Amino acid sequence: MRSSRPATSPRSSRSPFTSSGRSSRPRLRARPAVLLAGAAVVGALLTAGAGTARAADAPLRDLAAAQGKAMGTAVTGSKLTGTYGDIAGREFSWLTPGNAMKWGSVEPAQGTFDWAEADRIVNFAEAHDQDVRGHTLVWHSQNPSWLTDGSWTPARLGTLLHDHIDTEVGRYKGRVAAWDVVNEPFNEDGTYRSTLWYDGLGADYIADALTWARAADPAARLYINDYNVEGVNAKSTALYDLVKSLKERGVPIDGVGLQAHLILGQVPSTLQQNIQRFADLGVDVAITELDVRMQLPSDSAKLARQAADYQAVMNACLAVTRCTGATVWGFADSDSWIPDTFPGQGAATPYDENYAPKPAYRAIAEALGGTTTEPPTGACTAAYSVTGQWNTGFTGQVRIACSGAALSSWKVGWNFGAGQQIAQAWNATCAQSGAAVTCSNASYNGTVPDGGSVTFGFNGSWSGSNPVPTVTLG
Ligand code: G3I
Repeated sequence: MRSSRPATSPRSSRSPFTSSGRSSRPRLRARPAVLLAGAAVVGALLTAGAGTARAADAPLRDLAAAQGKAMGTAVTGSKLTGTYGDIAGREFSWLTPGNAMKWGSVEPAQGTFDWAEADRIVNFAEAHDQDVRGHTLVWHSQNPSWLTDGSWTPARLGTLLHDHIDTEVGRYKGRVAAWDVVNEPFNEDGTYRSTLWYDGLGADYIADALTWARAADPAARLYINDYNVEGVNAKSTALYDLVKSLKERGVPIDGVGLQAHLILGQVPSTLQQNIQRFADLGVDVAITELDVRMQLPSDSAKLARQAADYQAVMNACLAVTRCTGATVWGFADSDSWIPDTFPGQGAATPYDENYAPKPAYRAIAEALGGTTTEPPTGACTAAYSVTGQWNTGFTGQVRIACSGAALSSWKVGWNFGAGQQIAQAWNATCAQSGAAVTCSNASYNGTVPDGGSVTFGFNGSWSGSNPVPTVTLG
């Protein structure tokens, strides 16, 4: 049973996995900006210059739902509190566990299962009226060492895989809307990747896995997911041929996932055409792991290019009825896999490391028919975020950033709306009187240059709820 969603977005924004959305898009480009108090992105931003509040946009999930699409993110279960949890719950209609459902996570020792993080994500999704994309059942990576180090006959390997799918899909039967059943089965040239599964079981491990997943949860949508298959190329054509033959053989296959780990300025020109050709085969298409990486440091030109890239991907999905939506692979730069895997690169997601929305966020919203209000140029802004939260305590921070303006001293204030109390602050002098908090710069960080920022932090206490206040910068 799903509980009701927070008041900030209607239940209707949980998007269907089937292709029952709009047949073409009556795009709602003229849709007015919706001002929702609870939907401020990180805490309202008030500028020191103009003194006007930045308008909050409708959450991405609502904009997507109005287009018959879903907007998703990969998440880490342990982070689903504070600002991270607020954004994950408010902005997205799909959640994909980034790691929690992989074989190595759920069965680290043979016969010993750990479902804690996966359960946490599924519970969170249900509490926020979100769908879960299960990821992933059959992959060459992130398998437990007992499995990869073992020596198995083909029959035993098949049984292990069958049992794994039965156990995991069965556990979440009726609670996971779609599964990336098979992940990354192809090489770049379109041949099958040599893996534990292909080498041990032959190419039919794919058909078998799909068949076993269907038996374990007949209602779940079953996908094959891969990267570098966004445009028309040898690899995506191999995927196309596979899906075609699976359908001809009556093997259950409902969709393909185009991961879309993209490089700045390199959205394939054939993306929409490629989505359409899969749709024409009679399967859904989802953008499953979208990010756009760049060489660091980022600058305004790169961020603008990135915004255009995100918008191009959204537009390609919006143009094809059977494209069910897009999932970003982590919504914030602080939660992205890119810097670890591609040293020197990053800034690949729609939110920065302080959970402030980037131009890419606004581009996604606009592609989905929303309007956004840009922060005024030539201003300094203050953004409040909760960076950690536990039983009765929390850590918060405020980031003051200037663009086209500068400060030689600063003072910020807010009212705690739910009885929160500041205990201790650093990099600022803070005082609280009743609900009103004021913080001013320390002796060493009053200067915020044009293009620079200053961050201060504090510990506090809360009970009941810990809503993000509106911060004024004066
Ligand atoms: O959990 C351990 C932690 O205990 C340890 O301290 C830490 C030290 O490095 O490692 C942690 O595990 C890491 C894990 O992510 C959780 O953060 C692994 O080292 C790291 O390799 C792993 O990376 C994941 C990667 O898949 C593995 O290939 C990324 O988070 C995850 O985002 C990424 O996701 C994949 C998709 O599943 C498939 N498509 C490509 C995509 C990006 O690689």
